[in-house]
Amino acid sequence: LVLILDFGSQYTHLITRRIRALSVFSLCISGTSSLSSITSLNPKVVILSGGPHSVHSDDSPSFPDGFVDWALSNGVFVLGICYGLQLIVQRLGGEVRMGKKQEYGRMEIEVVKSCGIFGYKDVGDNQVVWMSHGDEAARLPVGFEVVARSEQGAVAAVEDINRRFYGLQYHPEVLLGYAFAGRDGNTEIFLFNVCGVNAGWKMEDVMDEELKVINNTVAPDDHVICALSGGVDSTVAATLVHNAIGDRLHCIFVDNGLLRYKERERVMETFKSDLHLPVTCVNASDQFLSKLKGVVDPEMKRKIIGKEFIFIFDAFAQELEQKLKKKPAFLVQGTLYPDVIESCPPPGSGRTHSHTIKSHHNVGGLPKDMKLKLIEPLKLLFKDEVRELGKILKVPEGFLKRHPFPGPGLAVRVLGDVTEGNALDIVRQVDEIFIQSIKDAGIYDSIWQAFAVFLPIKSVGVQGDQRTHSYVVTLRAVTSQDGMTADWYCFENSFLKDVSQKICNNVRGVNRVTLDITSKPPSTIEWE
Ligand code: XMP
Repeated sequence: LVLILDFGSQYTHLITRRIRALSVFSLCISGTSSLSSITSLNPKVVILSGGPHSVHSDDSPSFPDGFVDWALSNGVFVLGICYGLQLIVQRLGGEVRMGKKQEYGRMEIEVVKSCGIFGYKDVGDNQVVWMSHGDEAARLPVGFEVVARSEQGAVAAVEDINRRFYGLQYHPEVLLGYAFAGRDGNTEIFLFNVCGVNAGWKMEDVMDEELKVINNTVAPDDHVICALSGGVDSTVAATLVHNAIGDRLHCIFVDNGLLRYKERERVMETFKSDLHLPVTCVNASDQFLSKLKGVVDPEMKRKIIGKEFIFIFDAFAQELEQKLKKKPAFLVQGTLYPDVIESCPPPGSGRTHSHTIKSHHNVGGLPKDMKLKLIEPLKLLFKDEVRELGKILKVPEGFLKRHPFPGPGLAVRVLGDVTEGNALDIVRQVDEIFIQSIKDAGIYDSIWQAFAVFLPIKSVGVQGDQRTHSYVVTLRAVTSQDGMTADWYCFENSFLKDVSQKICNNVRGVNRVTLDITSKPPSTIEWE
């Protein structure tokens, strides 16, 4: 295990990802974790991340007392990155001070001593790295040597071979240099050659490990429930649990009347025929839509939908209890690793402690007397790793690549009152034509999310020699890494022409198609 202690750098997740990409298991925990939580993980290498602090500020986070002694007596390799290097220097008796010049962005560094961090490159060899720091190491602790310097002459890399402590002032996770270079760099990978880490971490092993954990956690007569949203995370989590405990898993899928065209039929087909999941499908369209009648405020819509969902989920759990003569003991959730990291950020990192679970999955508001314990089998995985696991579990590839769909569904894609006229029907048909055209054009996988939005305004048009006064729809397609920021997708003109024509010819009640060309920020991806 390569353990990362997070001191608040915006790049910390990237370190974990880079190392996992080398088939080495890596975990990230708060830099201020207790010594026992660090030692209990028994890491071979500990990486101290960067962070926004100066080691001199009052609230600067640091590793716990006893960490250095524990690392030394157990032969653990320690690598400090940026703030991590400065922490090592300061806590081991050296000196850190504000640099004469700040170093930000791409810079060249020069190897001044042949060393393992750089795969024993010759002195004088140089590489371009990513710097982002104001402080620098001014005096090294006894036993440390400078192995690289920046163009400005600042300390760029240090080592104390005997004590197995290393430090990089730059961020190797941003611009892959010698330290974390891909396997083709072979002799130049610090983790393999200096630390002797074995590459062998595979998704199959993760799956086997998780299956074991689930079997050890859930007693043979325990029952488990899971709410399936139709999305990738809950589906993969449920499939994994089902593989472990079979039909003691009980899933519920709720049709809230706000789903896409034929969504219920399509996902139920996958759940049943491809994945053999035991799913109860509840058609609660009328229940949801009657509560939403006349509601125009987006947050109010979200609240109503969330509350109604919990109501249905509660009824499902009670029915199950009567049938089984036993309360279900566990709840499966598709929580991912970024949510876990975000929920325990180091102090002063500027990241909040609030755990943002998307509202549809937010069954955290379940009635207290249900007392369900959580099973979160994906909590150590990133989204693309979940997709990889899904593949091994034989979740159809088309399903794994589906664009994200918000919990409140079409309620946030029909502006205003969702029950107004046939707005839901219109947005479903337009969306289906748009998505099908995107698939036909072979560009579905290049787009993060694409969908149609219903605008509750009418404009004048002319269709078949007749004046019409019909609705306006808008098309939205964005590219994104994680949904936090997004760019609008640039379609070919011929594609847009074709889709617009298809929509107006096939969807009654629409005479105008517009295209949303705003990025996030300033807009959000959804319109509400
Ligand atoms: P925004 O609109 O905030 O969306 O830019 C970012 C991502 O989150 C999805 N989204 C939601 N997902 N419940 C969800 O489960 C919600 O209330 C919700 N609102 C937005 C959105 O589809 C996009 O992927």
